[in-house]
Amino acid sequence: MQVKVFLNEDEIPRQWYNLGADLPTPLQPMLGPDGNPVTPDMLAPVFPMNLIEQEVSTERWIDIPEGILEILYRWRPSPLHRAVYLEKALETPAKIYYKNESISPPGSHKPNTAVAQAWYNKQFGIKRITTETGAGQWGSALAFACSILGLECKVFMVRISFDQKPFRKLMMETWGASCIASPSTETQAGKDILAKIPDTPGSLGIAISEAIEAAVTDKSGETRYSLGSVLNHVLLHQTIIGLEAKKQLEKLDVKKVDVIIGCAGGGSNFAGLSFPFVYDKINGAQIEIIPVEPTSCPTMTRAPFVYDHGDTAGMTPLMPMYSLGHEFIPPPIHAGGLRYHGMAPLVSQGIVEGLLTPRSIDQLECYEAALLFARTEGIICAPETSHAIAATIQEAKKAKEEGKEKVILFNMSGHGLMDLTGYDAFFQGKLQKHSLPEEELKKSLASIAGLPKAKLAKSGKW
Ligand SMILES: Cc1ncc(COP(=O)(O)O)c(C=O)c1O
Repeated sequence: MQVKVFLNEDEIPRQWYNLGADLPTPLQPMLGPDGNPVTPDMLAPVFPMNLIEQEVSTERWIDIPEGILEILYRWRPSPLHRAVYLEKALETPAKIYYKNESISPPGSHKPNTAVAQAWYNKQFGIKRITTETGAGQWGSALAFACSILGLECKVFMVRISFDQKPFRKLMMETWGASCIASPSTETQAGKDILAKIPDTPGSLGIAISEAIEAAVTDKSGETRYSLGSVLNHVLLHQTIIGLEAKKQLEKLDVKKVDVIIGCAGGGSNFAGLSFPFVYDKINGAQIEIIPVEPTSCPTMTRAPFVYDHGDTAGMTPLMPMYSLGHEFIPPPIHAGGLRYHGMAPLVSQGIVEGLLTPRSIDQLECYEAALLFARTEGIICAPETSHAIAATIQEAKKAKEEGKEKVILFNMSGHGLMDLTGYDAFFQGKLQKHSLPEEELKKSLASIAGLPKAKLAKSGKW
């Protein structure tokens, strides 16, 4: 039996897919502090104009420049695997496929956009990029991309991950980037948080505030900020995953996928795999498309659809999204990359439309799933990815109960070789079941009570 499919370099997709062109209800605009829509000029101190153009584009297909493809060829197209050993262990009639994004040099899907963003920044004459990182996957991906393209890179790493994952910092430094713990005393946003909560574990929201401040206060004008998820152009760059997967499934003669699954922190790897299939769903295909999050950070499953900032200090425009409130500081569970208060506007609108059906899973079930995956397929996955695997196992068991030969496709977004302290905590019984208490959710949502309201607009077709 064929257990994996490769594509040749000349079979790589040459365009990205923009779901923004096909959403039945167009995205509501980002809003500025005055409540009016943000114009591209207002974003110019933060991002280069060529990426801002992509952010607001409503073109369905956007060409991938040759210079970006040349770098992606180092590991792309990534293989599509059939998880035959996991299937056997589960005694399921389902066929399980996964796209293996763990084989990129930094170990996850993140370089797909890191390379594109660094390349566009360089084209625009930028010399330095700042960013935040949670688990360290994004920071190391941007460090890798900047090193290939000859740009400086500074990463604000969420304090709890900085302490838990010293090797990620060393990877960033190996690629020539600097990495500091957030909150830091280098920015006003960091100092303000430290004054309020000196022993804070940090959060992605805080680290984003610091990275943006560091970019916009650089007087040279040669520094910009880069975000590893959430924004339209980031999700766009990740669609190469789903577009490759489609070609690979065709080679296997798989005509129909029934269930598509990805873990979702800001939404980028999930979107990357699923959006090309969301296009099919909009055009009549029957597919269940499931973004998965932790029960301790239940943005899509328990938070409202609102206008909120992407960061804690309120430096970013207001985005229409599911949000736990920008002051939310998630409990320090080990899936650092899923500890974000918001969700990408494109994913959020997909949920509003009923195109996507989100699910939350407890971390203990996720680690059990990661172990089964490691002991059957052999790959030690990132704690974030374990959420996708846990949902895949739930779906495979359901297929067994129903006696259906379903096709399930999930995104193996990254390996966990730098995350073994999380596995260790699990082995030692230090991790507990954790669901966000209702009072904490209410307290956190209070921070967004006065912000403009997003419309729950949908076409009602699904
Ligand atoms: C391996 C891995 N998977 C998933 C995620 C979640 O991010 P996103 O939702 O943007 O894919 C991260 C974030 O750091 C990650 O490192």
